[in-house]
Amino acid sequence: MEVVVLTDAEQLAELATDAVVALVRAQPSAVLGLATGSSPLGVYAGLRLRHAAGEVDLSRVRGFLLDEYVGLPPGHPERYREVIRRELDGLGLADDAVQGPDGLSHDLPGACAAYERAIAASGGVDLQLLGIGTDGHIGFNEPGSSLASRTRVKTLTAQTRADNARFFAAPDEVPHHVLTQGLGTIREARHLVLLATGAGKAEAVARTVEGAVSASCPASVLQLHPHVSVLLDEAAAAGLQHLAYYRETWAGKPAWQGL
Ligand code: GLP
Repeated sequence: MEVVVLTDAEQLAELATDAVVALVRAQPSAVLGLATGSSPLGVYAGLRLRHAAGEVDLSRVRGFLLDEYVGLPPGHPERYREVIRRELDGLGLADDAVQGPDGLSHDLPGACAAYERAIAASGGVDLQLLGIGTDGHIGFNEPGSSLASRTRVKTLTAQTRADNARFFAAPDEVPHHVLTQGLGTIREARHLVLLATGAGKAEAVARTVEGAVSASCPASVLQLHPHVSVLLDEAAAAGLQHLAYYRETWAGKPAWQGL
């Protein structure tokens, strides 16, 4: 696990954008794992800038969403497919390039199994963007999620519904149920890039990076992955014991190595 601590969200987003651009230049039909929430938005903005400048051709890229709310109708602004459609609009991706679990299916377990098959058929995710919930969730894998879990239905905690209420007109409008890639699914992506900013994430980040690997902190499963980049601002990194070591390591890393 590589921990990078920078001063602000813009720097973190730029670093993650550089990693995506480098991947797509080397592998034009790369498969991206797309996250929602606030944390990855700077990366999507960065990709729009790099695309507009002609620095990257995303026309052959494919993408898979991490998760989706159950029951939000087509066109609902907070349906994650819709959020990602807005964020990637104008990047030249094919119409069918991005898939997500179908939260409107009458057969949700069947939709989850179909989603797993679609990810596998694509060859798997090359680079997965991740945020982290204040309770340590990734995707919508709430505390208690099996470290081996696959895409399935989950019930949101009251904490996550409260955290996400800011995106909805009223707290009661946040759905209780979601579909999410499992921790076992996420672990199969070849490179995981987690972004976290702000003091509200510091405890979850410390448990993820330096705590025990445990279903009680689902993101701690990242410790079992061979290629993880954890990009933090100072506030999100404040609870880390080995902060000085992470800083020293990053400062001494040749820039050409990337993430
Ligand atoms: C939601 C998403 C997660 C995201 C989390 C944190 O719960 N399902 O994928 O990581 O929010 O969101 P934010 O980045 O806005 O703090």
